[in-house]
Amino acid sequence: MSIEIAPSLLAANFGALNQEIETLNASKASLLHLDVMDGSFVPNISFGPVVIEAVAKNCKLDLDIHLMIEDPDRYIADYASFKPKYISVHEEACRHLDRSIDYIKSFGIGAGVAINPHTPVANLFTVLHKIDLVCIMSVNPGFGGQKFIPYTLKKIEALRAEIKAQCLHTKIEVDGGVTEGNAAAVKAAGADILVAGSSVFKAENPLIAIENLHGA
Ligand code: DX5
Ligand code: ZN
Repeated sequence: MSIEIAPSLLAANFGALNQEIETLNASKASLLHLDVMDGSFVPNISFGPVVIEAVAKNCKLDLDIHLMIEDPDRYIADYASFKPKYISVHEEACRHLDRSIDYIKSFGIGAGVAINPHTPVANLFTVLHKIDLVCIMSVNPGFGGQKFIPYTLKKIEALRAEIKAQCLHTKIEVDGGVTEGNAAAVKAAGADILVAGSSVFKAENPLIAIENLHGA
């Protein structure tokens, strides 16, 4: 199966958001990755429902909302109102992860769980059958434009093996520092979805950058 590309809005030009969305609408990307940061779970603040509502009006891609916030259950209903394909919460930010997964699914939305680089993939094995998407962070979350952490490739491989062993259809998304230079290795390790911020929006031609990631 071919890989899906999820450009991350964080790296877009916020002074020309509509134009950026039009570019993505004409691209091979299938998901728009939206990084919500609270300045507490991660040391940065990005955007929230107001911006996502505006973007959702013009975006033809499915929305993929990545909540880098503490106690995300408080906001899941707000983000569910945009009818995204996935909402991902961080394993490290959920005291009752099983309940958070059920809560996301109660809105008919795909439940995603993101894990930081240091978090073992085995932390998710007991609930893997309930998860639609695992987002493996390949940088420490909080900022775009960071360098891919190579040891996360082993985590992708281990998760792919476990998904196979449990006969599941859980998707593996890889987020952070994905470029044309490492996309093939990330895909070979077992990724289904590549998140790409800087390597798409800072490219001379984002459409070609998306195509190159797609064909990697
Ligand atoms: C990092 C975010 C990423 C980020 C990726 O905290 O979760 O989605 O936007 O950006 P790049 O592709 O530039 O590393
Ligand atoms: Zn993200």
